[in-house]
Amino acid sequence: MIFNEFKINNVSFLNRIIISSMCQYSARDGSPTLWHYNHLSSLINSGAGGLMIESTAINNEGKITHGDLSISNKVQIKEIKKIINFLRKLNNKIPIGLQISHSGRKGSANFPWIKKGRPLKKNSWKTFAPSAIRRSKGWPVPKQINNNDIKRIKISYDKSTLAANDAGFDCLEIHMAHGYLLHEFMSPITNLRNDRYGGSLENRCRLLVEISKIVRKRWPKKKCLGARITGSDHLKNCIKEKDAIYLAQELEKIGFDYICISSGGIIPKTQMKFKKGFRALMSKKIKKKLKLKVGTTGMLDDLNLIKKGIKNKCFDFVFIGRPFLKNPRWIFDKVSKKKNEKIIPKQYLRGFN
Ligand SMILES: Cc1cc2nc3c(=O)[nH]c(=O)nc-3n(C[C@H](O)[C@H](O)[C@H](O)COP(=O)(O)O)c2cc1C
Repeated sequence: MIFNEFKINNVSFLNRIIISSMCQYSARDGSPTLWHYNHLSSLINSGAGGLMIESTAINNEGKITHGDLSISNKVQIKEIKKIINFLRKLNNKIPIGLQISHSGRKGSANFPWIKKGRPLKKNSWKTFAPSAIRRSKGWPVPKQINNNDIKRIKISYDKSTLAANDAGFDCLEIHMAHGYLLHEFMSPITNLRNDRYGGSLENRCRLLVEISKIVRKRWPKKKCLGARITGSDHLKNCIKEKDAIYLAQELEKIGFDYICISSGGIIPKTQMKFKKGFRALMSKKIKKKLKLKVGTTGMLDDLNLIKKGIKNKCFDFVFIGRPFLKNPRWIFDKVSKKKNEKIIPKQYLRGFN
């Protein structure tokens, strides 16, 4: 079940384990570096069904750190195209996706290995958010986005979508979670606006929906289009499953193919509890109300758990992150010899006999 190919439009995922987007903070001027070649080469023949490239900023202000990938100028687009062509030469069967994002008030941050979750003091930039509320103590107050900013941001999403298609990606995912700009619009914790983009759930989701319509129009129907959304803020009086269902149903109406349910991140500390497959039940509740495909993420590197989750209609597929960093070939150690013959590169087969 896990290792059967599954199709979304013309995109054939090799199986139901997708490598989740993971920022490397190692880009130079928004373009991939040698690190990305090394990192992504190690993942492309890992036995996974699909590979999602890290959160990539739709414009410069939308980066999280100075080391984020961005897909907004000619050089960046050319360099991204180059690395995708290189990866295709290593494996032309696995679909490759891009996650596009705007960091909102979480931008202008330090590299996590220098100061995790802290803002830059030097070489910082002005950040933008739905309301002028700082992330937490020590973070700068972002500029409240006005109508011109909204127009500008929509244009950047449109252009990035066009560029991602031109670069040859099979799949595109809009990042609407983890406390970044679109999540900030949706969450009542970060959105205190009293215009048409604030207040009711419908208003708080308006920008997410408007951007999704723009992207849908631009992204080819034969490819795969999704969004990573928030199932819960894990706080009082904030986003809950029913709100996620509302957003997901809107995305379904617009013609999205999938959502990936994540949660947390709107402020540094929430009541999120980490344990094996901790988002599976949340995902089941949301999936029940939807027709589009549903994935989730978070501590799911256990094939029995994935099998059970698919069988119990908790999700259709999973997005796995950290296990691939620790051991890009972890899947090979967890499946039978017979199955391995299908997923292990032929050059490595003798290592598993
Ligand atoms: C180094 C690192 C970078 C990450 N970057 C992103 C990202 O770019 N976009 C995103 O949506 N999630 C990001 N995440 C979250 C992962 O995609 C994943 O959802 C999360 O780690 C939970 O899955 P796991 O338990 O399999 O690691 C990142 C996680 C890690 C460890």
